[in-house]
Amino acid sequence: MMDTTVTIAGQTFDHCLMNAAGVMCMSEEELTQVAQSSATTFVTKTATLEARNGNQEPRYFDFATNSINSMGLPNYGLAYYLDFLASEPEELQSRRFLSIAPLQPDELPILLRCISVANFRGFVELNLSCPNVPGKPQIGYDFEQTNRLLATAFSLYDAPLGVKLPPYFDMVHFDCMAEILNRYPLAFINSINSIGNGIVLNGNQMAIHPKNGFGGIGGAVIKATALANVHAFYQRLHPSIKIIGTGGVTCGRDVYEHILCGAHLVQVGTALHQEGVGIFQRLQQELHAEMKLNNVHSFDALRGKVMYI
Ligand code: DHB
Repeated sequence: MMDTTVTIAGQTFDHCLMNAAGVMCMSEEELTQVAQSSATTFVTKTATLEARNGNQEPRYFDFATNSINSMGLPNYGLAYYLDFLASEPEELQSRRFLSIAPLQPDELPILLRCISVANFRGFVELNLSCPNVPGKPQIGYDFEQTNRLLATAFSLYDAPLGVKLPPYFDMVHFDCMAEILNRYPLAFINSINSIGNGIVLNGNQMAIHPKNGFGGIGGAVIKATALANVHAFYQRLHPSIKIIGTGGVTCGRDVYEHILCGAHLVQVGTALHQEGVGIFQRLQQELHAEMKLNNVHSFDALRGKVMYI
């Protein structure tokens, strides 16, 4: 028997696979498709207080098993996602992830107040890492601002809350960010968001239009960075802060490696966009085969057990 259950903040999931924020999660129709697929749950498109159209098109481009995007936070606004979540049975709601982003620091208390008033008690994913809003830096690269936002969040809000982080590339940055995160009762962190501000060419042209062609990179090319971030935080964070591994998942072996590096849940972005919701069943089958091959019978026996030479 294979035990693939995962528990975070008292909620048990039947397995580890779900969408990554931004993919298949903007409209009720898309969220319903993910809800009815083999995914264990979903996360919404990052919601802002007011609805937004986002950046000019073309703003998303696939290249091989990778992608570049500069969507610019198009979304229907927080109330739309709260309404959709409220339409689900209560036991489902408590396992859903609602992604939010304040456009200014003073929006965070308002977003959290709306969530409390709507009585949503599922998981809130505070997005500190959108690289695509012109003029707005990624909050997760500003350690002091991250600390201030978390202090504000936890002074106001007591349901499960986590953060979506940008990728870090320096060991001292892992140390600094982990030290800040460990000050707060976070339910989870999600590593990583896209690698920000890459350039992809389509022929002799920039592949996407906004920000002169600069956009977030996702897909197979970011797996090494994703695994490094998952494992660096696994080594540094208090064990009560669970890790959602995101980045570069295209097959069951990739999911296995995220768990081996320390992930509880594993999210799929670019490959879900390319393949559709059928990917969850394929990944689950391939993951089980990989576990059998390695004689591992539960996620708990696998998680964080990467060997060093
Ligand atoms: C967008 C991109 C992100 O990586 C993110 O975390 C949130 C929003 C976007 O461009 O819409």
